[in-house]
Amino acid sequence: MAEECTTIDPPPVDLGNGHEARCLRIAELPPWDPDDRVVADTAPDRVREPLLSVSDLEVSYGRSTVVRDVSLDLARSEIVALVGESGSGKTTISRCVGGLHGDWRGRISLDGVELAPTARARTVEQRKRIQYVFQNPYQSLNPRRTIEQILLRPLALFGVARGRQARDRAAALLESVQLGPGVLSMRAGGLSGGERQRVAIARALAAEPDLLVCDEITSALDVSIQASIIDLLEGIKRERGISMLFVTHDLALARSVADRMLVLQHGRLVETGLTAQILDHPQGPYTQELISHTPQLAAAFSDGG
Ligand SMILES: Nc1ncnc2c1ncn2[C@@H]1O[C@H](COP(=O)(O)OP(=O)(O)OP(=O)(O)O)[C@@H](O)[C@H]1O
Ligand SMILES: [Mg+2]
Repeated sequence: MAEECTTIDPPPVDLGNGHEARCLRIAELPPWDPDDRVVADTAPDRVREPLLSVSDLEVSYGRSTVVRDVSLDLARSEIVALVGESGSGKTTISRCVGGLHGDWRGRISLDGVELAPTARARTVEQRKRIQYVFQNPYQSLNPRRTIEQILLRPLALFGVARGRQARDRAAALLESVQLGPGVLSMRAGGLSGGERQRVAIARALAAEPDLLVCDEITSALDVSIQASIIDLLEGIKRERGISMLFVTHDLALARSVADRMLVLQHGRLVETGLTAQILDHPQGPYTQELISHTPQLAAAFSDGG
């Protein structure tokens, strides 16, 4: 930050297309096209440090195998979108990563250490490092518990903090998801859907995880609230360097949050790569079809964008 930044209110600079910025150092920044909705830190030359690695994953429910040959990796501080139509296996893969479904073959490793199939068989430290946020905050939080009780539990379970320190931490967590301390004494049942989802995110953060698995976490919420939750996640990624496996069937949403994208069809990965690359230059017919069903993206695509 330049010294003047603290004293001067910078004049607006017109960036074109109705966008403007107020920054004294604007001339030092590389040119930026506001219509090129590329995630700012998608740096192809950045060294990726793999955190999670999945190889040859095959998953069954009883006799039916629904995921096959899935290999993927996720780097530290990276958001990877897992997209595909309903029933393609997004939740199934996420649940295996989170240890919530144990009937799979293949390898899932965290920092190179292979994980047991179920959370129960994993170490406490491994469980702490991967946290899951569910689609429906009405089902994932016990409505009769107070928010403080909900947040204290992972703090105690994972040995993060206890007593007075834990209560302070719970308040700080709420603040980090933009909820006031007054919410601590409220019961989950008294909160709106958006507020509950913030609490669910705070609960996941309480464990101080390295990886958040987010399965359609905004799809049960109003569109206006979706945007604020996404902002929140981006802040969390920036400030805490947490990685996210971000499951969605919404390609426009994936475009706005994810560094990389994995396209799943009938339980197999059919296309993987940088989000912008895939959405601007989809290689396979399935990805092209998914894009054609997303009006915001289909328009840009048919313009040759
Ligand atoms: N508990 C279950 N028992 C049996 N089959 C299941 C179970 N859960 C999922 N499946 C099947 O596994 C396949 C993948 O389902 P999954 O829920 O992973 O898809 P998804 O991509 O998350 O879909 P959606 O976008 O609708 O959430 C589907 O064919 C589904 O019917
Ligand atoms: Mg699902």
